[in-house]
Amino acid sequence: MNAGRADAIVQAPGSAVAAAGSAQAAPGQEPARFRQVLGHFCTGVTVITTVDSGGRPAGFACQSFAALSLDPPLVLFCPSRTSATWPRIARAGHFCANVLAAGQRDLARVFGTSGADKFAGIAWSPSASGAPVLAGVLTWVGCEVEVVHEAGDHHVVIGRVTELGPVGTEAPLLFYRGRYGVTAAAPAGGPPEVVDTLLAWPRHADWI
Ligand SMILES: Cc1cc2nc3c(=O)[nH]c(=O)nc-3n(C[C@H](O)[C@H](O)[C@H](O)COP(=O)(O)O)c2cc1C
Repeated sequence: MNAGRADAIVQAPGSAVAAAGSAQAAPGQEPARFRQVLGHFCTGVTVITTVDSGGRPAGFACQSFAALSLDPPLVLFCPSRTSATWPRIARAGHFCANVLAAGQRDLARVFGTSGADKFAGIAWSPSASGAPVLAGVLTWVGCEVEVVHEAGDHHVVIGRVTELGPVGTEAPLLFYRGRYGVTAAAPAGGPPEVVDTLLAWPRHADWI
């Protein structure tokens, strides 16, 4: 990686590097600008679930989910420090990342709202750990909590993958610029278009 660019990336908004940019935010506007710029990074949507020792399910909508390591198999997600679900996941020590399909906006809305019984009327089945697998998801990943880092107003939770769900053929639910969207599902079969990424996808059949 280019060291100069890396330095620029870690500069806080309002610092000398940020101030040098032509699109500098006005003083006090940095959070809005941060949201605007980062909102241009399109993600999928997951619902991270767990179940407590009393069998009560918990979960929240989460876009900050990513594959992290192939060997060992690790993923990550980032719950807010204000999340009511995170302490329950921490106590349980395990979670399931449910990857939502295009037709599951309603699930994103339900699990993206704190408070009410999010599982009322929701069909789910337990993974091996007991964490809910929501009906109709594109796929899911079962994990044990491995490491937790503090990071500003969020935690970075690293999970060791213990179970992998079957994969569906539907299009995924996307989140972009604060709105939901969908794209056509890639046709099944054929070689991947991108052949070398973080997890060295040519070998992904070894893992997924
Ligand atoms: C599409 C979408 C993505 C979200 N991504 C995250 C995320 O990555 N991390 C997070 O802490 N909250 C995220 N949220 C917000 C939480 O889902 C929301 O604050 C929820 O009310 C938290 O519930 P809880 O307090 O019961 O944990 C997202 C919400 C939506 C709708």
